[in-house]
Amino acid sequence: KLTKAVTLAVCMTTGAVATNVLAAPITIKFSHVVAENTPKGQMALKFKELAEQRLPGKVNVEVYPNSQLFGDGKVLEAMLLGDVQIAAPSLSKFKKYTKQLQVYDLPFLFKDMDAVDRFQQGPTGQKLLTSLEKRGLTGLGYIHNGMKQLSASKPLRVPADAEGLKFRIMTSDVLVSQFEAVDAIPLKKPFSEVFTLLQTKAIDGAENPWSNLYSKKFFEVQDYVTETNHGVLDYMVVTSTRFWKGLPDDVRGTLKTAMDEAIAHGNKVAGEKAMGDRQRIIDSKRTTVLQITDAERQQWVDAMKPVWKQFERQIGKDVIEAAIQANN
Ligand code: LMR
Repeated sequence: KLTKAVTLAVCMTTGAVATNVLAAPITIKFSHVVAENTPKGQMALKFKELAEQRLPGKVNVEVYPNSQLFGDGKVLEAMLLGDVQIAAPSLSKFKKYTKQLQVYDLPFLFKDMDAVDRFQQGPTGQKLLTSLEKRGLTGLGYIHNGMKQLSASKPLRVPADAEGLKFRIMTSDVLVSQFEAVDAIPLKKPFSEVFTLLQTKAIDGAENPWSNLYSKKFFEVQDYVTETNHGVLDYMVVTSTRFWKGLPDDVRGTLKTAMDEAIAHGNKVAGEKAMGDRQRIIDSKRTTVLQITDAERQQWVDAMKPVWKQFERQIGKDVIEAAIQANN
């Protein structure tokens, strides 16, 4: 009798433990490097809100902005180790995992954000979301920031103005070539260091979309911003394939829908921010925003466009062609 009672008690305890384990919420750490008042920052918060609302008690989303948890140099490795579950690095930061995404860095490839969007939603853009799978990462979608502008401690109107200047770049070899094409000196540096590097004049310039120029106050430490729209800064939302596939089907489905909606929200914010932050920067009078003429812009195009040929083999001619087509 006693043995039976003990067995029963043990079973009940084990059962309780097992139920507890099953019921423990899944923690999802979402790490990114920008401020909260940016398209990516807003998308991450929207994802948290929707995921926790729709899966109450089942998931717990922790958002870490401003490189608080990881910078982009480490976040993907950390993801493969299971230390973070979602990130959205810029498309310029995947070089170690795939060369194809370098297409997004080619200067003067996309004429505007609508073209970027058409490319991303088309077959080639969608296929690129799976280009990291061999390396254990799953792309959940794209999120926009915006077109990049050049900023510097002196006015940049034509490529010759950039000669000899040091520019901070993201960790992309295409961006190295882009700045070398105008005889400037590109330096790969983490986003978290950019403000100090500019403020102390350790570097002369940078390239950023309006939202990053504004939210990180780079415009306060750069005398000039030239409206070049010469490239795009966009993101891929990624997760670890192992983590994602290991989720219960219903949880994964609900999270994917929440992510799609969060991305749509972030992309709406991106459109508004680009123009709003541009105006806020102009109104601040802390920097001078320069417009260039078509002829001046053409000089930048002529100097930088040969970079496409340099990376054609790595990226794939078909991928570049599909991106060109998206301009129409
Ligand atoms: C950068 O490093 O400049 C960007 O990738 C930062 C960001 O996430 O927008």
